[in-house]
Amino acid sequence: MSFIAYKDIIEEGDIVILYLGYDNLLTLKVEAGKVHQTKYGALKHDSLIGEKFGSKVTCSKGYIHVLQPTPEIWTLALPHRTQILYSTDISMVIYQLDLRNGSIVVESGTGSGSLSHALIRTVAPDGHLHTFDFHAERVQLAQKEFDEHQVAKYVTARQQDVCENGFDLPRIADAVFLDLPGPWTAIPHAKKCLKHMGRVCSFSPCIEQVQKVCESLKENSFQDIRTFECLQKPYEAKTIRMPIANLGLTNEEQDYNPSLGNITQNEGKDCFEFKSGCRAHIVPGHTGYLTFATLFDPDNAA
Ligand SMILES: C[S@@+](CC[C@H](N)C(=O)[O-])C[C@H]1O[C@@H](n2cnc3c(N)ncnc32)[C@H](O)[C@@H]1O
Repeated sequence: MSFIAYKDIIEEGDIVILYLGYDNLLTLKVEAGKVHQTKYGALKHDSLIGEKFGSKVTCSKGYIHVLQPTPEIWTLALPHRTQILYSTDISMVIYQLDLRNGSIVVESGTGSGSLSHALIRTVAPDGHLHTFDFHAERVQLAQKEFDEHQVAKYVTARQQDVCENGFDLPRIADAVFLDLPGPWTAIPHAKKCLKHMGRVCSFSPCIEQVQKVCESLKENSFQDIRTFECLQKPYEAKTIRMPIANLGLTNEEQDYNPSLGNITQNEGKDCFEFKSGCRAHIVPGHTGYLTFATLFDPDNAA
């Protein structure tokens, strides 16, 4: 099993995601003979071996679902060591950086490895991710997860302060991604690793950080500088009831189209009732700004 390939049947040693509810996901390594306690009681690892991914499995006091890990599910289940990127921003990053199988990507900081897993799946099997963090324990834990998830051959994790010391990867990268508190200080270093037409992306929660990044990108001859904010806009199907205006006409004369709705009564008044798509009241809010830019002809760029 790995995060970049699918399989049907759960085997010993596989990483599985236990789905206990939409906001309650757990990661588990399947080891024969072991028992794991969940809020639905004891789950015997042996009862998972040989089952299909996606199956409903019985615990001592109920049942849970057992899912195959993907980068998207990992983002929802991973242990948070830092703030992380979520799938809406991640999909924009991958699209705008034009990543594909074979791409070489440089990332900093690694943080909790949420973005790293999606980058690895995108560039594998022929590409590579070089991910940097200056925090020793975060690098070790990310490396442990890459090993356990069987993706280690597609990623190199290094401990390094990239703002001070850069990346030491001259002209190899198709893209550089920065999620750092002071990304503008890493832009000159990003420039040194990018190939002709390489793309850079910086993720920052504050607009002041974006301004500094844009200034640094311009000073370093990047072009096509654009900033996006990804906000989801979910819609819900709702019943709308609108009072019918009293124009001195009968309802038939007002010509309400019965295929669009019904005339009903509300507090003694005629209403036109119909189903419509409306914006959800609670929408996921601001995460950060994504600033993208392109570097043309890096050897001759000022
Ligand atoms: C917000 S986290 C990154 C989260 C990551 N994008 C994810 O999706 O899991 C920022 C990381 O940058 C690292 N960092 C901050 N400054 C750094 C620097 N100068 N060089 C390298 N890493 C740095 C921090 O240790 C932290 O782990």
